Amino acid sequence: MAKKDINWSELGFGYVKTDKRYVSDFRDGKWDEGRITDDDMITMSECAGVLQYAQTIFEGLKAYETNDGKIVTFRPDLNAERMMDSAKRLEMPEFPKERFLDAIRRVVDANRDWVPPYGSGATLYIRPYMFGINPVIGVKPAEEYQFRTFVTPVGPYFKGGAKPITVKISDFDRAAPKGTGNIKAGLNYAMSLHAIVTAHNEGFAENIYLDPASRTKIEETGGANILFIDNDGNVVIPKSDSILPSITRRSLAIVAEKYLGLKVTQREVFLSEVFEGNFRECGLCGTAAVISPVGRINDHGKEFTFASGMDEMGQTTKKLYETLTGIQMGTVEAPEGWIFEI
Ligand code: PLP
Ligand code: COI
Repeated sequence: MAKKDINWSELGFGYVKTDKRYVSDFRDGKWDEGRITDDDMITMSECAGVLQYAQTIFEGLKAYETNDGKIVTFRPDLNAERMMDSAKRLEMPEFPKERFLDAIRRVVDANRDWVPPYGSGATLYIRPYMFGINPVIGVKPAEEYQFRTFVTPVGPYFKGGAKPITVKISDFDRAAPKGTGNIKAGLNYAMSLHAIVTAHNEGFAENIYLDPASRTKIEETGGANILFIDNDGNVVIPKSDSILPSITRRSLAIVAEKYLGLKVTQREVFLSEVFEGNFRECGLCGTAAVISPVGRINDHGKEFTFASGMDEMGQTTKKLYETLTGIQMGTVEAPEGWIFEI
């Protein structure tokens, strides 16, 4: 067994078909025992629930090669729990936590050669997902489901990696106050596609969505939570019931407090505060994004450039980034229970 012959440091965030994936079927009210397969194709009814009414949820996490050659994943138990929350909200059966962890372990183990080498800048992205597969024509939940997990080696989510990006305030809403913004459902991403294409066409890397009720408070972006560093160097995290509870952001809050001695506040954050200059750094955080520095926010032509500027990551963002990735890659001691060795 040898690592695949890939130019790891050139990888972007894309799909590469790897050797093995995990599949389990839910029929007659129960999950089967699950299996690893070579088959990357799915055959289903033309009327499958997922195709008609978008009954699909997913997760995203990564496997890393550490400095001493181990393969690990980061807090997969939290992905398992979040997927159970997503399933409940869309009337899908829960995939049990122990089964989820077993699936991750088996699929990463079966694709060890695809785990990018330590120090290459790339990681192995793991995508668990579940969808309604039997025919559904009246609006109701499916009765049969498939849970699958594949992996794909990835590089940085945003072009340029650690280079600050410019994001726009979107005219579209991402999630209604009592909608599905706090779960990881495909439908949240389908409705963001027009907004992201529009943002890209205008030269922006991402959209910041505001709270739809008042359009004054910062929620999150299409694929990551947001955090700010205030002028005292402390961390401020937007609070809302309709943003995805990011595992990266929750972990960074602990890293900031316990490793860097920073104060962390989670509260409503108004867009006006950004333009008043209350924050000196801003970052987008998520599994894919890690922490991507935001250099500038554009609100309908009105621009605010953070003190950290457009050339490099802000000082505090950089410390957060280095500590978190150090924990993930084994160079910084992890809090108990954060690292799962494969
Ligand atoms: N918010 C959205 C909308 C996302 O798609 C993601 C990606 O998973 C995140 C936040 C970050 O969450 P996590 O850190 O758990 O990957
Ligand atoms: C992730 O960070 O895992 C995401 O899901 C973001 C994006 C690829 C949808």
